[in-house]
Amino acid sequence: MSQRYNALAHPSLALSKYWGKMDGNINTPATPSLGISLDSLYCEVSIELLTQTQGDSVFQNKDKLEISDQLAIMLEAVRKKFHLPPISIETTSNIPYASGLAGSSAFFAALAASIALCAEHEYDVHMTSKDISNIARIGSASASRAVFSGFQYLDKGAIHAESIFPKEHWPDLRVLCVIVHTEKKSISSREAMQLCKKTSPFYQSWCTFAEEQIGLIRSAVAERDIGSLGPLMTHNAYAMFGAMIASHPSIRYWNPQSLLVLNVIKTLRKQGYAVWETMDAGAQVKLIYNQADGPSIRRSIESHVPDARLHESCVGSGVDSWKE
Ligand code: PMV
Repeated sequence: MSQRYNALAHPSLALSKYWGKMDGNINTPATPSLGISLDSLYCEVSIELLTQTQGDSVFQNKDKLEISDQLAIMLEAVRKKFHLPPISIETTSNIPYASGLAGSSAFFAALAASIALCAEHEYDVHMTSKDISNIARIGSASASRAVFSGFQYLDKGAIHAESIFPKEHWPDLRVLCVIVHTEKKSISSREAMQLCKKTSPFYQSWCTFAEEQIGLIRSAVAERDIGSLGPLMTHNAYAMFGAMIASHPSIRYWNPQSLLVLNVIKTLRKQGYAVWETMDAGAQVKLIYNQADGPSIRRSIESHVPDARLHESCVGSGVDSWKE
């Protein structure tokens, strides 16, 4: 059997969002973003080298997938750096495909790391974590964060991310992903960002707001202060959605179940719980809170939204790779 190069990554959930691309480069973010690794969700990627006569192929949980544009662009960028023959990519994951759960961040981070391992062993090409993050970014900018452990930062205009606090920095922090919809999203984040930039009257204001706010979000994380971080994170997400909704045609990822969850969270806050929401390009709602409040918050969501699937995470690790 030929050599397999494997990697496992966790998705990076943005507490402060990357939403918008700069002109003239692939996936260079127009806003600074700060993410955290979610330890209960993962994507594992295995690659094998094929012969020159074969084409690249990709399988997810054993189903053959189309090679997406982003994947083709990323592989082309890799092949400009060294001679990578066609590859077979196999991926398994507990994240519903393209549903707004940052699955692409974990997929491209794991793929970039498995390619880096292959490059090291087969071609004597050494890639640092920053190089891996840069390659992952070409697939999906949030993936550049998912390469790193703990709390990750991707600056506006940057080509790679960095880790700003280790995963041990905030052991009490919990993130609950409330999965209300597992179908593929109606519009990809890439198309949605282009449309938003082109048509939303609030796009520039969103970018300015995100830049002004990032220092506060970073300080709240540094101080492990959920009472400051929660409202800032939630405000950041709604500012992004404001720009999205004002696009033409309007971009709206939420569904009635998402709104139900948002109402439950509002009630929980009125009852004194420090629980705050954020959302991405999909219907799922993600909450942050301190560990001690977890059981009451989960019980409340389970009773009001019984069909939702819940995934609670601690702050997780960065990408890990191995060969077999
Ligand atoms: O990296 P992409 O192309 O999947 O876009 C991610 C966009 C958001 O999830 C909405 C925000 C973020 O920073 O992860």
